[in-house]
Amino acid sequence: MKLAHFDPAQFLATHWQRKPLLIRNPWDDWACPVEADELAGLACEPQVESRLIEQTVDAGWAVEHGPLAEDRFASLGATPWTLLVQAVDHHVPEVAALLAQFRFVPNWRIDDVMVSFASDGGGVGPHFDQYDVFLIQGQGRRRWQIGAACNETSPLLPHGDLKLLRDFVGTEEFVLEPGDMLYVPPGISHNGIAMGDDCMTLSIGFRAPSRAELIGDWSDHLLEDMSDDDRYSDPGLAVQANPGEIGAEALEQLRAMMIEALGDRQRFARWFGAFSSTRKYADIDWRPEEPLGLDDIRDAIGQGLELQRNPASRFAFVREGGDTLVLFVDGETFECSKDTSAIAEAICANDSLTVEVMSDAACELLLELCNMGSLAFLDEDEDA
Ligand code: SIN
Ligand code: CO
Repeated sequence: MKLAHFDPAQFLATHWQRKPLLIRNPWDDWACPVEADELAGLACEPQVESRLIEQTVDAGWAVEHGPLAEDRFASLGATPWTLLVQAVDHHVPEVAALLAQFRFVPNWRIDDVMVSFASDGGGVGPHFDQYDVFLIQGQGRRRWQIGAACNETSPLLPHGDLKLLRDFVGTEEFVLEPGDMLYVPPGISHNGIAMGDDCMTLSIGFRAPSRAELIGDWSDHLLEDMSDDDRYSDPGLAVQANPGEIGAEALEQLRAMMIEALGDRQRFARWFGAFSSTRKYADIDWRPEEPLGLDDIRDAIGQGLELQRNPASRFAFVREGGDTLVLFVDGETFECSKDTSAIAEAICANDSLTVEVMSDAACELLLELCNMGSLAFLDEDEDA
């Protein structure tokens, strides 16, 4: 299934982070990549994050968090409901393959695919998200309303678990059919209402760190190895008119001490790579029962086995000039030289690939990544 009738460069230049866009079935041959029963099954699994939202007549919006009991679905009444399951791409290869079509956005900006299944009239209510999202109609139909841009000052309805907008007004409305796609930029309010009992929506979700998160995590990282001896000093101290004044020179020196450490470019790049490649869900464990050795890697390459990325793993790299780059996988850092940078780039660019005979250094890199459970060589009909 290919995103055949869609121009990513054009989309990025005109709509990304700017304005909503309705894209009528851009696929060459749309087929919903997951079934409702499979989704319900995932919602019963303890390691999967899921929610069931019901719009009850007497208690209003009711939210239940998964794992749900297997018989829960049988007891759902006529009130509109929706089931939402996070990171379905981590569990369903066909959904991971769908996500691969959105790699025109860098890996580090991609979050995961949430899938919802709703009964007639079901939805999560009017809200806005902090992130960009592509809402793909998997099956059935949904009416989407788009409203004004919102932010943290927008009034919400009182609800412990849901951030529903109090004053939502839909200014545009679209009915999405299977394969249709609605792009919504961050902050734009939206409301999706299922039409009929078989409405499935797949949300390709992105992420963007907040400044607060960056400053907090980056400074925590710097603090890990800061010396108590690295301190303000003033051998040039002169008598000042008022001892109460914190002088401009002292302030400048203090500020410079801080900015100098916070602004270390190379260290920041390495920290950010590790920080942003940390997994959201660590449960999908692809580690081999017994650690592999170099011979196993060479055998797998020799047999032409497909090398696959664990869908829960995150891969990214930064260049450090010349032939060297630093690869980040699941929060770990790998220095890559001329011998290993080509394979590092290849695994960052492809969810799965077959590799040719390689140098010892490249095999060792693959060995480490396989033993970490971030990569695996798969037999054609074998599941990880
Ligand atoms: C849904 O699938 O019902 C909600 C998706 C969204 O609005 O972000
Ligand atoms: Co939303």
